[in-house]
Amino acid sequence: MDAYKLLISGDIPLTGHTSVSGGKNTSVALIPAALMCDDPCTLDNLPDIEDVHVLVDILRGLGARVDYSTVTKRMVIDPRGVNACTVPYKQTQRMRASYYLLGALLTRCGEANVGYPGGCAIGNRPFDQHIKGFRALGAEVSEEGGMICAKGSLQGRTVFFDRITVGGTINVMLAAVKAKGQTVLCNAAREPHVVDLANFLNSMGASVKGAGTDTIRIRGVQKLHASQYTVIPDQIETGTLMIAAAATHGDVTVHGCIPTHMEALTAKLLEMGVSVTDEDDAIRVRPIGPHRAINVKTQEYPGFPTDLQQPMSALLCKAQGTSVVTETIFESRFKHLSEMRRMGARARILEQTAFIEGTQELHGAPVTATDLRAGAALVVAGLMATGTTEIYEPGFIERGYEHLEEKLRALGAIVRREPV
Ligand code: EPU
Repeated sequence: MDAYKLLISGDIPLTGHTSVSGGKNTSVALIPAALMCDDPCTLDNLPDIEDVHVLVDILRGLGARVDYSTVTKRMVIDPRGVNACTVPYKQTQRMRASYYLLGALLTRCGEANVGYPGGCAIGNRPFDQHIKGFRALGAEVSEEGGMICAKGSLQGRTVFFDRITVGGTINVMLAAVKAKGQTVLCNAAREPHVVDLANFLNSMGASVKGAGTDTIRIRGVQKLHASQYTVIPDQIETGTLMIAAAATHGDVTVHGCIPTHMEALTAKLLEMGVSVTDEDDAIRVRPIGPHRAINVKTQEYPGFPTDLQQPMSALLCKAQGTSVVTETIFESRFKHLSEMRRMGARARILEQTAFIEGTQELHGAPVTATDLRAGAALVVAGLMATGTTEIYEPGFIERGYEHLEEKLRALGAIVRREPV
């Protein structure tokens, strides 16, 4: 279907079992990483989402052979035919993580010319720390005609990030894997996908130590060999499904997740008065009583993730009392609350803080998704409102959630598409 809107009939408790897909933000790092290998690699559990399909197009354009099955979720990447190091803007503007092609192609070809990255409009998203890291390793980096150009043979060095950056940590890690000598990344991001990338690189013969702490040590190797690797489950999809369950006072078990990755959200849901219990690889969310207002402040991992702030603040629109939500990572991540005002939400936004006064009067209305997680937040809003919510621009959701509508329908939600 080309242009469509999503229609949600809300106020129905979600019940049953669902499974989480492979991680978006880990997949978009691992696929470029496979370009650096000297042999073909196999990645399993790659989600069928728009960002993964964009990367497949990019890798094929560079000369790699890529076979991806949306049924088995397996991708085989053979980078031996790579014969180009330029990725044009018309491809890179389709996603944020296209900037990982810089680190990966620098390592593979000694040169990378990559168009400016696109991605969600959630604030000013500089990449100065990526460039600082490449330069520290000896690359010459310039920006010409809408392209970022980097070249040089790289030498291990110490890189101190001025602020914690997931993208910067991953990109410089990619560049350092075959650099001569040791690279030390200080003030590194600790997100699960940083650890997953390090594990994948090590499975190919790289030497990356300390991922998951703020200091990562990478000893350059000359070759990376074939590997078969399974991507970790998506932390943000897990959280979105947990929030959707809580929003409808439903009883949902999310299977195939890693509960320790969810501790910040679990703690906040418990504080609100939601029952959350976990087993080895499953989390069950059940109602106890009315939801209480809470305060949330986004932080780098293991703090409360900014990517869950939007669905979480949608949930708080029906909690008893006034919640205070502070967004510290991106400047522009409250647009969903402005949309939700049309549904009866009472939210006042003052710079980076939202003051949300809970109301039981949320009702369906036409709203527009402005980015991926805003789209997910509006789905949560639609699920807990009375009547029908129409979400315009739901295509954003497909960038990062695998078959979200089907998963919700299987839990009893009434969700359908209609052409516009
Ligand atoms: N920043 C800089 N300079 C840099 C890099 C980042 O100032 O060179 C700033 C950013 O402006 C931001 C903060 O540092 O204020 C953190 O940015 P980070 O680099 O960590 O974010 P990112 O790599 O651009 C990734 C995820 C985002 C997620 C953030 C934070 C991917 C592809 N994207 O973005 O995911 O919100 O980390 O966890 O991994 C999403 O999935 O919806 C999404 C936006």
